[in-house]
Amino acid sequence: MITLAFETSCDETSVAVLDNDKVLTNIILSQLFHSEFGGVVPEIASREHLNKIVELTQRALSESQISHEKIDIVAATSEPGLIGALLIGLNFAKSIAVSLKVPFVPVNHIQAHIYSSFISDNKPEFPFISLIVSGGHTLLIKVEDFFKHKILGTTIDDAAGEAFDKVAKMLGIGYPGGPIIDKLSKNGDINFHKFPTAQIRNHPFDFSFSGIKTSVLYFLKEIDYVNNKSDKLTANICASFQHAVIESLYRKTLKASKEYNIKNISISGGVSANSYLKEKFSGLRKNGYNIFIPSMQYTTDNAGMVGLIAYYKYKLSENKKIFSHQSFKINANPRIDLKTL
Ligand code: KG4
Ligand code: ZN
Repeated sequence: MITLAFETSCDETSVAVLDNDKVLTNIILSQLFHSEFGGVVPEIASREHLNKIVELTQRALSESQISHEKIDIVAATSEPGLIGALLIGLNFAKSIAVSLKVPFVPVNHIQAHIYSSFISDNKPEFPFISLIVSGGHTLLIKVEDFFKHKILGTTIDDAAGEAFDKVAKMLGIGYPGGPIIDKLSKNGDINFHKFPTAQIRNHPFDFSFSGIKTSVLYFLKEIDYVNNKSDKLTANICASFQHAVIESLYRKTLKASKEYNIKNISISGGVSANSYLKEKFSGLRKNGYNIFIPSMQYTTDNAGMVGLIAYYKYKLSENKKIFSHQSFKINANPRIDLKTL
């Protein structure tokens, strides 16, 4: 079964072609120019998706050597995300489905992240604990089977990636902050300063990152960072901050794994590209844990993961009529509700 998939929920325009669960092509265009604004500007993101989507679709089909007639289903991220950005990919994908007279499968972006570790020959077995860490989301989920999820915890304020981006902004080292902090931390000392990791009473699996962010802000004032700036100092702050965030993600994931007696752990979303995070979680392998982290191109937003979950969603669905291009009841209206797994 050939799937043509789209992802435009934020600042990546991505188009993928899959043959069953195998990704043939996964083209990702990151809108790097948002860095000059210190964050994603929704209006500009939408316009750029609009500018690029046709060209990327043509490239994806030609690179995978798949002609229009071979497409069996079309999929796109339908929620959650920036509304204008979502609408570009969603409407484009729906139009293709209608014109080719093939089913259209709407995809929840969080679900796509959960199953991104399935784009591999070494897939997690059910049940597994899924940690989703990106610029917009931080979620700890127990995945019992396909589409059978229990959200164990979420962030009560900032997402993990958002904290990386905001701290990088305070340090004046660029955007997006995650990869830059990751790189600079390699020359820093994790014990340079202890930034606090929050415990939320009665909610052992919830996260909070705004406290860490505020304590970095106060610390920078206290040491008069602006006038005492040096590469070593910046590296030390990055390493200590990164340690605090990753430690919190690691501890809570491990706690969930122990509580539910599940040794399969999958980590996905942009922050799962973090080298310190990978090192910490990989260390668990020697204790019998199975750790799954998608390869780099499937960690940040990509259409490959959208196509993969669309394939399973369609294949496992008992009522395929709901995906018909003739149905006007397609449940693909972007919503702002994050808890609609
Ligand atoms: O999944 P993603 O591409 O988009 C969202 O759905 O949000 O994640 C982007 C986030 C950004 O906040 C970025 O700073 C973070 O992932 N990120 C990282 C790293 N690479 C990307 N955070 C920490 N370390 C990294 N190496
Ligand atoms: Zn994402």
